[in-house]
Amino acid sequence: MYGLVNTAVADLARAVGGDATWEAIRTRAQVSESSFVGMTGYPDEITYRLVQAASEELQLSVDDVLVAFGRHWVTFTAAQGWGPLLQAAGGSVAEVLRGLDALHARVSLTMPELRPPSFRCDELDASSLTLHYYSDRPGLSSMVVGLVEGLGELLGQVATATRTRSTADGADHDEFLVRHASRLP
Ligand code: HEM
Repeated sequence: MYGLVNTAVADLARAVGGDATWEAIRTRAQVSESSFVGMTGYPDEITYRLVQAASEELQLSVDDVLVAFGRHWVTFTAAQGWGPLLQAAGGSVAEVLRGLDALHARVSLTMPELRPPSFRCDELDASSLTLHYYSDRPGLSSMVVGLVEGLGELLGQVATATRTRSTADGADHDEFLVRHASRLP
């Protein structure tokens, strides 16, 4: 994955426990790089090792680390210059989720080796939808839960995602029930 992803893991680790926590995580993961070049591709294995090491170091499940990472990704990418693209993607969680493939296609223009996941939405009613997530990378679906929550926070909504189908149980892709509502004033 592009170094931007590993940089976001490092940024999250520092937010949780400062440089010492990041150093402990990367040492445990046996990752020699202390920083990453955002626009350079790195083997996926580095990201997986960092997530596993963060889980052990912080005594959280891998799923909890991925949820936290997904939430962090939204504010992190916005601060890294991707905010305007995210804003252009829509003013509500449902709108952004409907446009995720187009968003990643725009990202591919600057990151030509991007291997993005693919998403599809089935509208259920005004405040809920089914989100279909297709990825050839295993084990990352909890990140989607955090991403949806983070999008809600960014856009002033309350948004939750609950997994309803999982590749871990043999399904061909993951599905989530997403509920999204305006925040009460
Ligand atoms: C402007 C904001 C965003 C940028 C710049 C961005 C960029 C990226 C990048 C660089 C990767 C790594 C893939 C690779 O290097 O091949 C990635 C993966 C991913 N992105 Fe985005 N993304 C953004 C927003 C979102 C949002 C809002 C979602 C929401 C659901 C999302 C879902 C994912 C997921 C789940 C992955 C994991 C990889 C996989 O499943 O294969 N992204 N994205």
